[in-house]
Amino acid sequence: MAHYTYLGPVSELLPMAELPLKGALKDSSLQVLKQQGILTEDGVILAVDDHDKLLQKAEELGADITILRGELTALPGFIDCHTHICFSGSRAGDYALRNAGSSYLEIAEKGGGIWDTVTKTRQASEKVLRLGVVKRTSEHLNQGVTTLEVKSGYGLNLKDELKMLRAIDKARSSVPIDLVSTCLAAHIFPKDFEGTKADYLNFLSRELLPAIKKEDLANRVDAFIEEGAFSRSEILPYLKKAIDLGFDITLHADQFSTGGSSVAIECNAVSADHLEASTEKEIEALAKSDVIAVALPGASLGLGCAYAPVRALLDTGASVAIASDYNPGSAPMGQLLTQAAILGTFQKLTTAEVFAGLTYRAAAALGLKDRGRLVAGMLADIVLFPTPDHREILYRQGSLKPCYTIKSGSIVYN
Ligand code: NIG
Ligand code: FE
Repeated sequence: MAHYTYLGPVSELLPMAELPLKGALKDSSLQVLKQQGILTEDGVILAVDDHDKLLQKAEELGADITILRGELTALPGFIDCHTHICFSGSRAGDYALRNAGSSYLEIAEKGGGIWDTVTKTRQASEKVLRLGVVKRTSEHLNQGVTTLEVKSGYGLNLKDELKMLRAIDKARSSVPIDLVSTCLAAHIFPKDFEGTKADYLNFLSRELLPAIKKEDLANRVDAFIEEGAFSRSEILPYLKKAIDLGFDITLHADQFSTGGSSVAIECNAVSADHLEASTEKEIEALAKSDVIAVALPGASLGLGCAYAPVRALLDTGASVAIASDYNPGSAPMGQLLTQAAILGTFQKLTTAEVFAGLTYRAAAALGLKDRGRLVAGMLADIVLFPTPDHREILYRQGSLKPCYTIKSGSIVYN
């Protein structure tokens, strides 16, 4: 028998319905519905409508009814489409060194950076990693995030990459949030690999990717295209093999230098993430493509670098999602809403553009069509803030915390 739930009234509800996937959004395009209720059936939205009207229908259906107190604003649950929250260790030392004048790449060359986290993650057990994922996921839950991507990429050998992906997989049963995992074994070339970069990438496509498929641990492959990581010509054969094996592609692109976003377009990647170094040429090419541009303001804040040119991307016609990049190196803050709000102030983004970047556009960056808008047929993933004015949410720059997070119709945080 179907299970119905009902939630209401909410003072303002932003369904994000019918907003386009690509391009700039005016705040006047944001539909703001007043005094609404949400009826769900088996975790999926059945209807969004006026509270009084829908409550009656909910009663007729015998729904579990939650009458909300106070003045609240409802948005689709946030989707953090780019994180590295499976790791061990801290890179507080790197952060202090960077602020004292060393660059990210200089620190990496001296044995700090990503390699330091690889060493510590290799030493950690699967259980310790799993508990870390659960802990950081809970922090996200308190921020209204209902879908969260998590990358491997600190194992960089068969055993430890699988250990990371298994830890993420097992964390799923203890968190009421959807975790989408991604293989980032092509993060950097591991120092201890005996062979060339091409040998390493061949090994990944021959051994690691089939093992991941066999255990159904991920269906996305990511790579870091950058000086000090992998070049266009090094990575293309690997990405083609990953595509042949059925993986979706997402890339760390144009972070410090350009090149990565054109690889993303060539591979029909679902997303190109970072883009801080993208110029007019890359912006135009991304806007013409179906690749979702993902801005990672947390990395700009962690590294003290420029933000991705989000205003120009949107004005040129690209689709832009916003993610936290939560990781121990470049983005240790992990506060998605704070970062998105700050990005909005520096890049002059409308409220609609920021909310779109955290909801349906972020869903598209993960290739997910069943979430990100509060309309019938979508998952009932909802975040509720204690305010009758949706503009308060970004204005408070993350300090206004959600009072409820709802995943598939159930209250999972309040
Ligand atoms: O998205 N750019 C490469 N990778 C990560 C950083 C990972 C790390 O520093 O540990 C990023 O910024
Ligand atoms: Fe990243």
